[in-house]
Amino acid sequence: MKVEFARKDFGSVSADLLVVPCFKGKIPAWAHAELLKAGVEKDFVGEKGRTYMLPAKGKPYKRLLFIGLGREKTIELDEFRLAAAKAVRGAKGARLGNVAFWLDFNGAIRHSEKDVATAVAEGAILSDLKLEPYKKKKKEERKIDRLVLVSKLDLASAVMEGVVLAESQNYARMVAVEPANIMTPKKLAETAKALAKEHGFGFREIGKGELEKKGMNGILSVSRGSAQEPKLIELRYNEGKKLPHVALVGKGITFDSGGISIKPSKGMDAMKFDKCGAIMMLGVIRAAAELKLPVRISVVIPATENMPSGSATKPGDIVRMYNGKTVEILNTDAEGRLILGDALAYAAEAKPDLIIDAATLTGAVFVVLGRHGIGMMGTDKGSMKELYDCGIETQERVWELPLWKEYGEMIKGDYSDLKNQGSETGEAGTITAAAFLKEFVGSTPWVHLDIASVDHTDGETGYFCKGPTGKGVRLVTTFLREWAKKRK
Ligand code: BES
Ligand code: ZN
Ligand code: ZN
Repeated sequence: MKVEFARKDFGSVSADLLVVPCFKGKIPAWAHAELLKAGVEKDFVGEKGRTYMLPAKGKPYKRLLFIGLGREKTIELDEFRLAAAKAVRGAKGARLGNVAFWLDFNGAIRHSEKDVATAVAEGAILSDLKLEPYKKKKKEERKIDRLVLVSKLDLASAVMEGVVLAESQNYARMVAVEPANIMTPKKLAETAKALAKEHGFGFREIGKGELEKKGMNGILSVSRGSAQEPKLIELRYNEGKKLPHVALVGKGITFDSGGISIKPSKGMDAMKFDKCGAIMMLGVIRAAAELKLPVRISVVIPATENMPSGSATKPGDIVRMYNGKTVEILNTDAEGRLILGDALAYAAEAKPDLIIDAATLTGAVFVVLGRHGIGMMGTDKGSMKELYDCGIETQERVWELPLWKEYGEMIKGDYSDLKNQGSETGEAGTITAAAFLKEFVGSTPWVHLDIASVDHTDGETGYFCKGPTGKGVRLVTTFLREWAKKRK
């Protein structure tokens, strides 16, 4: 689906379908006239969630699709994304491939027209994606060729921003949905390399031999049970330029069986999504480059499988991490913090202004926040406040959990500096995981995002189909846009 913008009045829109979003009781006069003409003005008054399709005779559009938005005073930005998804589904259902979406609202919205335009473009593109790369294509696939967002105002760049954000999120979703037998650490490195080539990023991959030389035993210990070689993947945007520098570190476990501390088999297939933190960062650097954000970005991805075998790491094993700290591995299923420990210490060496890491790190974050938020912890209060605000704007909301020193005590080791499990009961599991990561960032300002609560959905929800959501891409890209402005 191609999404474009056109600055026009409704009368000159030519399309198979013209979508008209309406607030309750505030249907634009020209659209209301169509309802009156058809004698159905009582059937649709703009109630939230209602849609209504009408043939349009003698117009440059064949049909009208009304979408109810409810009251304009209370509408949230995300409801425009949902309305766009409804429009896409409605058009596909009616087999109409050339769609126009009317963007001028007859009401006093509390959001800027630009933000609404961005959100509509996002919702349309996100909802258009099907994540079925291995299904035989149906012959009569219903698809939209073109979606034109129309307004009397100039919203072209806002629409473009929505297109970039959503396409970057969809890129992340498409990479993340690949199963572990395809998306191995090697394939993930190749995927990152292709992205680097396309956008002119610097690229480097560190294989097993070099990881050994460097003493990155956190990553190596996790990979020991797997037949796949581990990789440390690096991408650089605006390298060497005098710009604010952020390091983005993402957990790239291509499959998490738990290792010797093996997980129950029920639902284990979802552990192919344990690479979503890494892929989220690929989505962010892609979006940042397309939006030409004036920031320098280093993406660092530790990638490996976590598998049991005769050579796998065993509970009780002790390893020396890249920064020299020793860790007793009490639970081989707490592997994310081991690979991230090395990657964070490595990222901190370049002395960036900020490190953000994202990881499907703990099952406990789902217990805390359900599927509605990302767990956030860190040392940079200013960035965390900014991320909170961006979370509200993007509907990728974050909620801060404390990192009090007592949690740091919980991961102090008996036979080693640290242990990789806070407690056997799992108390404060999300926080003790973050407290472990904190040991590897030194004095670099740092924010950790535990995305295990939002990385995928088990069924169609809102503008997402079943599968990986790409959540975090929109949040961190939007954050970097604001961060760059403030640091100028
Ligand atoms: N990848 C998992 C976290 C996870 C669990 C993500 C469920 C999504 C859904 C992580 O590696 C893990 O297994 N963490 C353990 C840590 C524990 C053993 C200290 C957990 O959360 O149970
Ligand atoms: Zn695990
Ligand atoms: Zn994991």
